[in-house]
Amino acid sequence: MAILPILEVPDPRLKIISTPVTEFDEGLKKLVEDMFDTMYDAPGIGLAAIQVGVPKRILVIDLQEPAEHAHEHGEHCNHDHEVVRKPRIFINPEILDPSEDYSVYTEGCLSVPDQYAEVERPATIRARWQDLDGNVHEEEMEGLMATCLQHEMDHLEGILFIDHLSRLKRQMVLKKLEKQRKTAA
Ligand code: NI
Repeated sequence: MAILPILEVPDPRLKIISTPVTEFDEGLKKLVEDMFDTMYDAPGIGLAAIQVGVPKRILVIDLQEPAEHAHEHGEHCNHDHEVVRKPRIFINPEILDPSEDYSVYTEGCLSVPDQYAEVERPATIRARWQDLDGNVHEEEMEGLMATCLQHEMDHLEGILFIDHLSRLKRQMVLKKLEKQRKTAA
């Protein structure tokens, strides 16, 4: 287990286009383990390998949503719900059939710490990817999972969520980040 340093803007490595994984070996398994350790520690819900400086097409995601609970409809509930871990690994992911309807989420990114902005992306996608053994999977995705996968896949092309914003908004986010770093220093 290892927690790796996460690259942050304006690190130029975040603009690298990642290359496909061709070796499904022990090194890959170890890197994916370290990526999960790093993501949970941050904490975050997704991480691309380039964010820890490895330009390979590898993503880990865990939405860590609260457990489905068995309350009767309308029953008041004021306790914390246990978060369930559902770690997912996407190697060499591709997007097929993005929907024409879009959804808007307030996104953040471990490489743009503590900054959030609304981003519009196709609401549903079909995704194809490989697992740690190189087997191919396909699945229809919607909601936060669809958004998160598209955000992480952008990292493989050297794109950050702030690149989807207008120039003015992007500069505001980067300025806020700079200010925050100065106060933290
Ligand atoms: Ni990100």
